[in-house]
Amino acid sequence: MKKIIFATSNEGKMKEIKEILKDLDIDLISLKEAGLNPDIDENGKTFEENAIIKAKVVMELTGEIVLADDSGLEVDYMDKAPGVYSARFMGEDTSYTIKNQYIIDQLKAVKEEERSARFVCVIACAFPEGEVITSRATIEGIIANQICGTNGFGYDPIFYVPEYRCTTAEMLPEQKNKISHRGKALRDIKTELMKRI
Ligand code: IMP
Repeated sequence: MKKIIFATSNEGKMKEIKEILKDLDIDLISLKEAGLNPDIDENGKTFEENAIIKAKVVMELTGEIVLADDSGLEVDYMDKAPGVYSARFMGEDTSYTIKNQYIIDQLKAVKEEERSARFVCVIACAFPEGEVITSRATIEGIIANQICGTNGFGYDPIFYVPEYRCTTAEMLPEQKNKISHRGKALRDIKTELMKRI
């Protein structure tokens, strides 16, 4: 059975990807399960660059097929910030309650039409033969006027999806996976993986 490593130490992401790729005949393992804890400098300027950096470093360390993702929130009114800096925005150790309230405050007097935002996810897959493929997906929404919901993580409590009339923090995980940037990017990379393994 082909071994594929997903270059993350995030248990939530691992669960999500295992669920989406469960019908592939592969042995999918996390960094932890592979006994790795590499210190990777995510210094790319785009989601693609960062996802490729992570996938390639781990592929070169292990010689296995490696998947990696990079994701973040783009707020149009803030010139697409925090973008690739989403995790590091206002400092890695700052709570999301503070980060989310800051974004709400930035958009205080801003009308609904100008509150557009999106979550972006890029998944990269690095093959030992040298080929690297990527898939990018987004989910569009608007920045809410207040923090709402306790599911999910990160910026979910301020990411309001008009079609569902709630934030992604008010959705059940299955519901979010169906429409999320990460769910869509994972399903696209799965199609490409199926052609190659
Ligand atoms: P990374 O892809 O693990 O580097 O994470 C990027 C950051 O983007 C996360 O730490 C969150 O702040 C944010 N982010 C990415 N996807 C989501 C999501 O689905 N919900 C909320 N925040 C997200």
